[in-house]
Amino acid sequence: MAISPLKIGSLEVWPPLVSAPMAGYTGGVYREILREHGCPYCYTEMVSAKGLLHGGDDSEEILLHADSDKPLAVQIFGYEPESMAQAARMLSEPERGFAAIDINMGCPARKITSQGSGGALLKDVSLACDIVRAVRDSSDLPVTVKMRLGWDEPSGAVRFAKEVAASGAHMIVVHGRTVSQGYSGKADWKAIEEIASHVPVPVVGNGDVLTAAEALDRLERGPCSGVMVGRAILGNPVFFEDALALLRGEPPEEYTPQRKMRLAKEHFVRSIERYGEKRGLLEMRKQLVFYFRGMRGAARLRELLLREKSPEAVVRLLEEGWRAYQ
Ligand SMILES: Cc1cc2nc3c(=O)[nH]c(=O)nc-3n(C[C@H](O)[C@H](O)[C@H](O)COP(=O)(O)O)c2cc1C
Repeated sequence: MAISPLKIGSLEVWPPLVSAPMAGYTGGVYREILREHGCPYCYTEMVSAKGLLHGGDDSEEILLHADSDKPLAVQIFGYEPESMAQAARMLSEPERGFAAIDINMGCPARKITSQGSGGALLKDVSLACDIVRAVRDSSDLPVTVKMRLGWDEPSGAVRFAKEVAASGAHMIVVHGRTVSQGYSGKADWKAIEEIASHVPVPVVGNGDVLTAAEALDRLERGPCSGVMVGRAILGNPVFFEDALALLRGEPPEEYTPQRKMRLAKEHFVRSIERYGEKRGLLEMRKQLVFYFRGMRGAARLRELLLREKSPEAVVRLLEEGWRAYQ
């Protein structure tokens, strides 16, 4: 099957591959890097609708993005149609620069589900649909939903997705696990594809895709209109570049240890510039270890990295130190 652009309202995304929202990882700095490597569509990390309306939390900081970081969906979570609608209205102002409003209906974190938000909405299809309608009525932007297969079992997933689509969602992303599964087991792509073949709006499949070749395979096979990739892009911004090369019929450039360390250093230096030494170091420790994935001596490098106390020492490790462990 030929691969077509992903349609989100009037927006066309090519190739139909999107980077997943990952709180604590896909902030502005990493998204800018992903864009430079061909990523065609990103999400902000999730923000609380109420937090946004009442201020005082870090929501506004999460929303900051560069001009190059477009098209960008803003993801909101909450459980009250009214506050979700108000947040959507605020986020739809043109100066905010967002391309779509995404509603989180999959987050399994107890802090989120205990208030009835995120994945908890999968237990209440009528509330979920009220939220979609309220957001849609208050925004001119396309409204999208990111869901899991269900709360603790997947049998209602097709019905849930159909109702959410009938309530006005322009696109639905489905992570092929239930909320109670967390990240255990394997993403159920049969269930995702079942939804995609029954729902009249584009469905983007998500879960456990590891390589660009695998993502393109899934797209060729259909019926998903797009593929979302999360953990596999951590420490691996070249994922989208690889996909573009494969689509041109060329082999992707090898992701050698040298290339990994060059990109890791770039990511690190930009984070220190943006967030300052203390926060930059803290946030980047968890991100940099992903660049070591698949390298010989990765465990030792990780240990050394976690020990380094200054940005200069981390840069030295990324420039030269890794060679000692190859
Ligand atoms: C650290 C982390 C943070 C995440 N944060 C969010 C989030 O803010 N919003 C959301 O909808 N999903 C979030 N997710 C879920 C991912 O978007 C994605 O659905 C999930 O990781 C499965 O895709 P993957 O197997 O390609 O990683 C997060 C996942 C991880 C690992």
